[in-house]
Amino acid sequence: MVYYIRFLKTPRTQIVKPGLVSVSTLISITTDLGDAFLAEDVVLQAQLIDGTDINTKSNVLQESIFNWEAGKRELSISIGPVRVGSKISKVVLAIGPKTSSATLYTDLSNSRNVPLVISGWSAPFSIAQNAPAEKLIERRFILQDTRLRIWEETGNNIARHIWDAALAAIICLQDTINSSGECSMPRLQSRLRTKGKLQVIELGSGCGVVGIALAQILSNCSVTLTDLAEVDDIMTRNLQLSAPGSSTRFKVLDWEEELDADILQEPIDLVLVSDCTYNADSLPALVKTLDRLVQSSPEAVVLVSLKRRHESEAVFFDLMRQSALVVMEEAVHTLPAPYLDEDRIEMYIFARNKSSQSN
Ligand SMILES: C[S@@+](CC[C@H](N)C(=O)[O-])C[C@H]1O[C@@H](n2cnc3c(N)ncnc32)[C@H](O)[C@@H]1O
Repeated sequence: MVYYIRFLKTPRTQIVKPGLVSVSTLISITTDLGDAFLAEDVVLQAQLIDGTDINTKSNVLQESIFNWEAGKRELSISIGPVRVGSKISKVVLAIGPKTSSATLYTDLSNSRNVPLVISGWSAPFSIAQNAPAEKLIERRFILQDTRLRIWEETGNNIARHIWDAALAAIICLQDTINSSGECSMPRLQSRLRTKGKLQVIELGSGCGVVGIALAQILSNCSVTLTDLAEVDDIMTRNLQLSAPGSSTRFKVLDWEEELDADILQEPIDLVLVSDCTYNADSLPALVKTLDRLVQSSPEAVVLVSLKRRHESEAVFFDLMRQSALVVMEEAVHTLPAPYLDEDRIEMYIFARNKSSQSN
């Protein structure tokens, strides 16, 4: 399993004297679930970046090295004093594993390049006031042909951060489109290489990382990201940040409710489901929603990406079978884990069982 830099206290500046500031923050490095701290020593690099126009340039004002030690639950980071020019009103603090690369972007272009620790960027914060940055953390990824930026919230909200299965799904989608890497799913490939417009819907999309990545990788799809209303703000932020590609939109879709007619208007080609099987109580509603979508679009295929955390998740497969949604393809994708170990993420392509349809 990969580990994520998290802000326990978002960064803030302290003015030492005019034009000279220090920046401090408190971080942790945990799993997606937040249930384990990284138990391995890692050298971290912190970059203080001019945040006045972070979208167009990345001017590093100061870099410092810190050591995360196995057994620790948090690390205090303090940079400076740093001289800051009068034109700079905001700064951004980025923290990630020290690598040979000058940027701290996380490389998802190839499964072998994925680092154990996923870097994070703060929201821009003022150097004039001693106010902390917003409670957000941005992840920046290198994909095969594009770069992806996604905001998460700090804190432990399940929906408003990125999960491991999402990272594996993105790598798998790229590998499948480009016939590269370890994830080969021919049926998914032929669907992704469809000539016309590909209608995609993602269920439980959280921050939207998988659907937005696909929309950036392909130029011919229309992606509807769906989740509970609680992701509205973070999703709006991420949709605004996303690079040009295919069209994207967000709709509230609660698996416990009837589907909106708007969702069923156009035939769906691909349904994305990443890390949504962790809660056995919600599985009947999830499968009912998948069943309803595939009934209205019988040619649709469903890509499910999951990391098994407990045995109760097996119920998902029973429920899918009962709904005549059968596994057409499967693959295992690995992400790094501490001490050079590997973590398994399972990928499945489900489709409607045609023989049960004709019965
Ligand atoms: C573990 S998160 C995965 C988020 C994202 N797919 C990812 O992999 O990063 C599970 C998602 O399922 C969503 N979810 C849970 N119950 C739901 C329901 N009844 N209807 C719609 N979405 C739901 C949560 O809000 C959350 O965003």
